[in-house]
Amino acid sequence: VVLSISVDPGADAPLHRQVYDGIRGAILSGSLQPGERLPPTRVLAGQLSLSRVTVAEAYDQLQTEGYVQGKRGSGTYVAPDIARETLPDARPVGVPAQSVSLPELSPWGRRIAASHEPREAIDAHWDLRPHRIADDLFPWDAWSDATDAALASHRDALSVAPDAAGLPLLRRAIAQHVERYRAVACSPEQIVVVTGSQQGLNLLAQLLLAPGDRVAVEDPGYPAAMLALEVHGAIISRIPVDEDGLAIDALSETGPQRLVYVTPSHQHPTGATLSLTRRLALLDLARREGTIIVEDDYDSEFRYEGSPIESLQGLDRSGLVIYAGTFSKSVLSGLRIGFVVLPERLVAPFTAAKSLWDGGTPMLEQAVLAEFMRSGGFERHVRRMRRIYRSRRDAFREALAVSFGERASVGLCHGGLTALVELESERSTEEIVRRARDSGLALRAATRYFADPPPRPSFLVGFGGLAEDRAADAMAAFAAAAQ
Ligand SMILES: Cc1ncc(COP(=O)(O)O)c(C=O)c1O
Repeated sequence: VVLSISVDPGADAPLHRQVYDGIRGAILSGSLQPGERLPPTRVLAGQLSLSRVTVAEAYDQLQTEGYVQGKRGSGTYVAPDIARETLPDARPVGVPAQSVSLPELSPWGRRIAASHEPREAIDAHWDLRPHRIADDLFPWDAWSDATDAALASHRDALSVAPDAAGLPLLRRAIAQHVERYRAVACSPEQIVVVTGSQQGLNLLAQLLLAPGDRVAVEDPGYPAAMLALEVHGAIISRIPVDEDGLAIDALSETGPQRLVYVTPSHQHPTGATLSLTRRLALLDLARREGTIIVEDDYDSEFRYEGSPIESLQGLDRSGLVIYAGTFSKSVLSGLRIGFVVLPERLVAPFTAAKSLWDGGTPMLEQAVLAEFMRSGGFERHVRRMRRIYRSRRDAFREALAVSFGERASVGLCHGGLTALVELESERSTEEIVRRARDSGLALRAATRYFADPPPRPSFLVGFGGLAEDRAADAMAAFAAAAQ
């Protein structure tokens, strides 16, 4: 047999791999038939000007994988039982298959697939998307020290199968933090560390909702939370929000709900704070109807006016409130560490779900964060950033007013890193986003946060990543895009 394969000594792939690919391709394409004899290694080596060892290595690999069989003393043969019609095509190794038919998705899969929005890679001069943090001011040195400390003192936690509920030291630090700053009443055992609070919501939806269960969310509200609840088959009621937060009257008119998702400290996206009267009314309603409340306290570390309002969880006496927190804003968005504070009876089922989902949040990251908290670095960072974000918010609002005058109104921003901005403009929201992008400014339309599209172009503007001295130019570019 003369094999027509070629090798290229300059290619990245090793020579034995190229010989292997060539022969495998010949078998798969049928130019080498089952039972056919391969040339002796010496002959093929001569033909290709390779060493015999190289060719033998390729033959060995083909034999290990079952493409060929060697008979000592009598040569190497294509495996006789390879049925050509069952073989895949002769794609080179590593080239993905073209799907002939897509697998049918489950109902859950169909809901998830319908919701998918590819994340655009954005290289913007001004990134004003929601929740951008001031990554240029992150205390990397302190983080690096915390990493050293984690590697020095948590080797056991890294080398054994972890407790899916989280690293005990971190759970203790979180319990202390939320008790002191958020008046959350809990023991460390009630805390489960999750891979972002989004995972917390997903697991809660899976654990607590059956298809057809009724769930209430805020309108406008956080789309990712709604999606987590919706994909599990919940029937969603969208309850209006005003300057005192979720309208509890409207909620009670919708009839009993299995679960209510709220952002009471800092309503996302309007920025409203749920008033104390409404908090008490919500807890009362929940108690009467056995409704579970999920309190998403996603950015309460950053409050600039008034004192932070006590968490709903801290006011609850019936064990119906589940509190969710995150380090995505207060530390790093890419850290992907959040936590839930659960009523005691939910800790075991939630931990079981977390364990099945991913076996636990990566321990090294947990250990670093725990050390960062233990050293006081976290508290210092939050205190410093609160000052900085407040002054960035002020600069942003001032610049917005200068560039837009009466044509822009900005929602409540007593806290957080993001403000809802409404414009008077002849242009459509999409047009403004596109024109802004063309001038180097990344913007997020608020449309998806509303049940009915807002009457005027509305945006969620993240001011956290916008330094004071860049605010004027950014708002001027924004105004030009809307002009
Ligand atoms: C209202 C709200 N809840 C929760 C989260 C997020 O959390 P995580 O990054 O912890 O998944 C966000 C993030 O943008 C948010 O806006």
